Amino acid sequence: MNHSAWWHGGTIYHAYVRSFQDSDGDGSGDIQGLTNRLGYLQWLGIDGLWLSPTMPSPNHDWGYDVSDYLGVQPDLGTLDAMDRLISAARERRIRVMLDLVANHTSNEHPWFVESRSSDTSPYRDYYVWAPPKADGSLPNNWVDDTGDPAWTWDEKAGQYFLHNFLPEQPDLNWWNPAVHAEFDAIMDFWFDRGISGFRIDVANGLYKDAQLRDNPAHERAYIYDTEVQGRYGLQHVYNFNQPEVHEVYRNWRRRAEKRPETPLLLGETWVARVDELAPYYGDNDELQLGFNFPFIFAPFEAPALARVVSESLSQFPAGACPVWAGSNHDLPRMASRWAGGDSRKARLAQTLLATLPGTFVVYYGDEIGMTDSDIPAHLHRDPLTADGKNGQWPRDNARAAMRWDRTDQGGFTAGTPWLPLPDDDSVNVADQREDPLSMLTLTRSLIALRREAFAGSVAEYREIEVSDTRWSYMSGPLTVVANFSDEPQPLSLTGGRTLSSRTVHDTPETLTALGPWEAVVRYCGHSAAASGTTAEQQR
Ligand code: GLC
Ligand code: MG
Repeated sequence: MNHSAWWHGGTIYHAYVRSFQDSDGDGSGDIQGLTNRLGYLQWLGIDGLWLSPTMPSPNHDWGYDVSDYLGVQPDLGTLDAMDRLISAARERRIRVMLDLVANHTSNEHPWFVESRSSDTSPYRDYYVWAPPKADGSLPNNWVDDTGDPAWTWDEKAGQYFLHNFLPEQPDLNWWNPAVHAEFDAIMDFWFDRGISGFRIDVANGLYKDAQLRDNPAHERAYIYDTEVQGRYGLQHVYNFNQPEVHEVYRNWRRRAEKRPETPLLLGETWVARVDELAPYYGDNDELQLGFNFPFIFAPFEAPALARVVSESLSQFPAGACPVWAGSNHDLPRMASRWAGGDSRKARLAQTLLATLPGTFVVYYGDEIGMTDSDIPAHLHRDPLTADGKNGQWPRDNARAAMRWDRTDQGGFTAGTPWLPLPDDDSVNVADQREDPLSMLTLTRSLIALRREAFAGSVAEYREIEVSDTRWSYMSGPLTVVANFSDEPQPLSLTGGRTLSSRTVHDTPETLTALGPWEAVVRYCGHSAAASGTTAEQQR
């Protein structure tokens, strides 16, 4: 068991590369721009940097439709630029992770071009092809992420191909061992270049039911009052979460463990319940981290959040490391979604995410409290959600360019930004760096605190109190008390150092009250955190 993994108690920054920093004035963030901002990321205190997709792509889904797994998208940079980023980051003790799209490719990938060309092509079986049913109807009732049928007829092949996302993103056929071999080689290529891990896209996908059975109808599938699955009236029983996927992760994990510094496999495990998430950790021999969507989708209420935390810690295998995030490029940002634009709530959320045991993932801009933009429809760039098709929320709203300063272009570009900058120019890095009470100062202080307190371990978690208005817990040497209400609450914390989501700074005097939507963290010295505690001990 690896107790010294860098992500244990660590912080990973999720950079949506195209929106982070432009270096060449074309309006798109790029790898050189990111490299130029490494000083900022080091100052912030992160351990890992996950880049949204960087591989060549026709961009029907902004890089999530890959046409070459061994290259770099030209408007983001070159392989040389990527190499330079990896080594410059390493000098600052920041590990770079890439996004790996293994569930599907672009329809422009040479494998797919070959696959549709003839039924004797060795690539035919790389994808999921099916004939119509005897009555001429679609192979089954599956729908894609936009709610349209998941099958598209291909004239050339004379068959339907499967796509769980856009028709430009044909699903790979993981029943074919050749596909496994391709991805082993792709991962080796990047590990050899110094990549420290992958965020695995659609990690609960990959395999589909061998018989392509119809999915059962389900009006809505709710979890903690949030609809996660069952969109469009179907449950994802046969097109996601197939048992065979676990052997893929056992294989990837075995291969990762053979490397001198074990790379991190962080799955986009898009499932509704903790009991569906836990299996992706396997017997601690599959993914080292799986995003906790039950937590992300929980309402911003103490009982719901605390419940996911305790369920996670009791259901994950011994030695497993949880991971906590509040935002990503597919969802409304937490400052809007959870906090409804109330900065007290966003700061409270950040404090919780940063003090729970395990890994903390910060989506770019959340450290300055970015809220969703309201990008006018004619400027939308995301084909998957543009036009609000089937009620989809426009993902562009969470992908606006980073504001580095107050200037018109926000320090992001010398050109025209590919998506408009957020309207509120006061939410910017330059101003917040100078402000001892800013969200940025809070986030940086939290990251520094967790580094010190967790010291490279998965802290022991103990729930102290949960009510409708209050959540308090211990996380290693940290005691956290959070007020989930509009009223002040009494507080008795003595000794140690404290950090408040409202005032940030250590307050040496005994705090006697907790403001509305405030969390206070107390740190008591160098205790238990130093040794690697396990989920076993957490029970
Ligand atoms: C994942 C990505 C999302 C993408 C989809 C298809 O959910 O996070 O952005 O559209 O996979 O690749
Ligand atoms: Mg650029």
